[in-house]
Amino acid sequence: MSPLKHVIALIILIASPLAWGNPEEDRQLFIDTFEANIPGVPISQYIHGSLMLSEDALDQYNSIMDFPPFQEMIDQGRKIWETPFKNGQKFANCFENKGANIAGKFPYYNTTLKQVVTFEMALNFCLKQNGETALNLINPETMGTLSAYARSLSDGMLMQIEVPDEEALSKYALGKSFYFRRIGQYNLACASCHLTHGGHYFRDELLSPTIGQAVHFPVFRGGERLYTLQMRYQRCMEAVGATPFKSGSETLNNLEYFHSYLSNGLPLQSSVYRR
Ligand code: HEC
Repeated sequence: MSPLKHVIALIILIASPLAWGNPEEDRQLFIDTFEANIPGVPISQYIHGSLMLSEDALDQYNSIMDFPPFQEMIDQGRKIWETPFKNGQKFANCFENKGANIAGKFPYYNTTLKQVVTFEMALNFCLKQNGETALNLINPETMGTLSAYARSLSDGMLMQIEVPDEEALSKYALGKSFYFRRIGQYNLACASCHLTHGGHYFRDELLSPTIGQAVHFPVFRGGERLYTLQMRYQRCMEAVGATPFKSGSETLNNLEYFHSYLSNGLPLQSSVYRR
């Protein structure tokens, strides 16, 4: 895209997010914006978030990831994943390919339920179908560790979120409009920080670009505190003085659908260290 066209596209994007285009056009516009704003960093590096902008931070990250301090929690999740239900069934039986190389297709639009289904919701559906009790979506010890392990079975898979029809597109559009909506006491949108300032400092924080954020959850902040993707959204909402929406709410599910789509083509990795 020529620089002028790019500026015009960006003005349209910020002024009227709902006016523009299909998901693939949106993704391309985000990429063009970041390529212009963060010169010299290939999109493949975006999986490292704000770490990609500092060699020291990336070195520290790599040495922590050699022996992840959170390995025990992943093992705990593995135990939950492998323990048979009372009826003898297992999580692996609920999923295509026994649960391997599938997480990159979540969230997806479920035409029967007429809603977006996240990976964590699918884990809970599996429990309920087998007569077990669903797990609390924000409990790091149970759903957190289970999700961390189950997602690791898809490490290396490329994100491939699909928006197959008009109904799905309407959910994607709701997620997108939330991404651009200013909220909270500070009156900031997700886009204010992670699109406009992505790859740059905002106040004293180096901000990750939107693209690449969705492929490496859950994260362990400080190496020990587990955050699912929606728990991370909630912390950002609190940071701008807004009351966070609930994990598993339609608002956050639609947001996750839009947000994950933008990382299409990037490899998954669960879990990683974050500051
Ligand atoms: C005031 C600026 C600000 C706003 C607004 C904001 N965030 Fe953040 N966000 C941050 C900071 C700071 C971090 C930690 C540094 C980083 O990774 O970007 C962060 C981290 C994240 C991460 C984790 C990235 C990673 O690789 O670990 C995600 C995902 C995220 N934000 C999503 C959102 C979403 C979705 C919204 C809108 C609901 C939002 N943020 C609104 C400042 C903001």
